[in-house]
Amino acid sequence: MIEVSTSILSVKEEDSTKTFYNLETAKTDYFHIDVMDGKFVENNTSNMMYKYTEKIKQISNTPLDIHLMVNDINKYIEEYIPVYPSYITFHLEACKNKEEVFKYIEKIKQNGIKVGIAIKPETKIEDMYKFLPYIHLVLIMTVEPGKGGQKLIPYTLEKINDIKKYLMDNNLDTYIEADGGINLETSKDVINAGADILVAGSAIINSNNYEEIIKKIRRI
Ligand code: DX5
Ligand code: ZN
Repeated sequence: MIEVSTSILSVKEEDSTKTFYNLETAKTDYFHIDVMDGKFVENNTSNMMYKYTEKIKQISNTPLDIHLMVNDINKYIEEYIPVYPSYITFHLEACKNKEEVFKYIEKIKQNGIKVGIAIKPETKIEDMYKFLPYIHLVLIMTVEPGKGGQKLIPYTLEKINDIKKYLMDNNLDTYIEADGGINLETSKDVINAGADILVAGSAIINSNNYEEIIKKIRRI
């Protein structure tokens, strides 16, 4: 079953309570929280995303899917542990070495939270192989991280395909999440490539019927 994680990056503050309520009613599987620090990527969404997360926690039981686009991974893991998300995903490119990667994997797991690792479009999937047996999710960026509303980069679909094959060949049950540029036109290709969780932001938030678009993105 394909799951949809709605990115709330482009939600306007004045509409936020209503939008979060409507997204839950429309049965999004997760709220996808894009935490940007102004260093790993240019934009800084960290205060806003924390505020939104607190608001969601007050009105919803829908699980949280935290995507950290930050350099100081430890700081933000600590910030998000208390809100008890389903997933905390950090970027491989923000880590100095494999010891650092394993340190964050342990820390997140020890707090009862599932771990994801994200890679940018130009990062090779081979760089992920040694971590896959220890994590729950691999997030393949299908656009450059940093902002919503971009076009999906076609060659990233091959990466999804290749990593799916690798997971199957090695009997691993790590989920694949695809993030960026996913809409009604692109979701079919992303699902066919092998993704399990589809992140969509602008396609959902800009539509006037969340339930319908979420269903259509899932292709059911
Ligand atoms: C990009 C973010 C994505 C993105 C999703 O840096 O990680 O979650 O904003 O938004 P759309 O669906 O508009 O590409
Ligand atoms: Zn994201």
